[in-house]
Amino acid sequence: MLNTKLHLICLIWLLINFMTTETMSTSRPKVFIKDPDLPEEGLEILKSRCELIRGAKDNSMDDLAKMIQEANGVDAIMWSGHGVPNKEILDAAGPNLKIFASVSAGVDHLNISEIKSRGVLISNTPGVLNAAVAESAVLLTLGAARRIEEGRRAIVNGEWKTNFNWLLGTDLVGSTVGIVGLGGIGMNVARRLKAFDVGRIIYNGHKPKPAGDEIGAIFVPSLNELLKESDFIIVAVPLTKETALMFNKTTFAQMKKNAVFVNVGRGGLVNHDDLVEALKTNTIFAAGLDVMTPEPLPVDHPLLKLPNCVLMPHLGSATVKTRIGMANLASKNVLAALDNKPLITPVN
Ligand code: DGY
Repeated sequence: MLNTKLHLICLIWLLINFMTTETMSTSRPKVFIKDPDLPEEGLEILKSRCELIRGAKDNSMDDLAKMIQEANGVDAIMWSGHGVPNKEILDAAGPNLKIFASVSAGVDHLNISEIKSRGVLISNTPGVLNAAVAESAVLLTLGAARRIEEGRRAIVNGEWKTNFNWLLGTDLVGSTVGIVGLGGIGMNVARRLKAFDVGRIIYNGHKPKPAGDEIGAIFVPSLNELLKESDFIIVAVPLTKETALMFNKTTFAQMKKNAVFVNVGRGGLVNHDDLVEALKTNTIFAAGLDVMTPEPLPVDHPLLKLPNCVLMPHLGSATVKTRIGMANLASKNVLAALDNKPLITPVN
């Protein structure tokens, strides 16, 4: 009798187990994760709820056919890198697609109206990368000010000199720092630079910001004024129609001769031919760039020949912790969309 009962319990347990697994495997939402390198820790919260379809190892935008297969019928797309999500990929996802979660703060590379026209939500990952990008801005600022590229080249070329006036740089202490774009990243840059005893921090924009007051930054009404006054110009604005190519021959000419120009926003903010010219002719002192046009920069690009230009290959947010944070925030947005809840960081 006891044996029969036990058998019956086992049978019911097996049946329940089988039914749950079946339902789960058929009803789990599918998430296409374009970059197979997205950190596992950042995807943890998706794993129990969703079927993750990871992009192929060599998933570059060149392999559209592969991506179309992978995105077929998915409920969510997690998109990293700066390639434009082609119409064909969105078509492949089709009507199931609820959310396009970009694993980036910037959204200038997205065809937002195309995605939105399909009733698909969009999210990005602002905030979590502010500290890392600000650190890279400080690195570029100091590197360009202290002629680090020129110094390294001198060592490599056996041109190390010992005279007193050799490779003199420019000081942050007591200087005027102009921040173009006092948003999350700009504020983090400003706070860090204060520790270098800068003279004053100025910023421009549409109107003064309370956050600016909190750190004693001074609002200047025009870009022109900021450029004329600043010893360091640090750019952290998003790329939009309004900001595209705002740094060009005219604006470089408005800067001080000792100006150090740093860009951690987007390459599209700058006319790079004009920047090369300004650096070559010493119209400005030096530049530090994490972003440029085009990316990747061709190996024979004139920027690479300039001793007064410090370059990073778009690594502003590239720290272990920050990339996990970005993936995690994108995952949370995906889950919010799947649960019909408000997105944490929507792109409107
Ligand atoms: C961003 O998140 O926009 C950074 O540029 C890294 O891609």
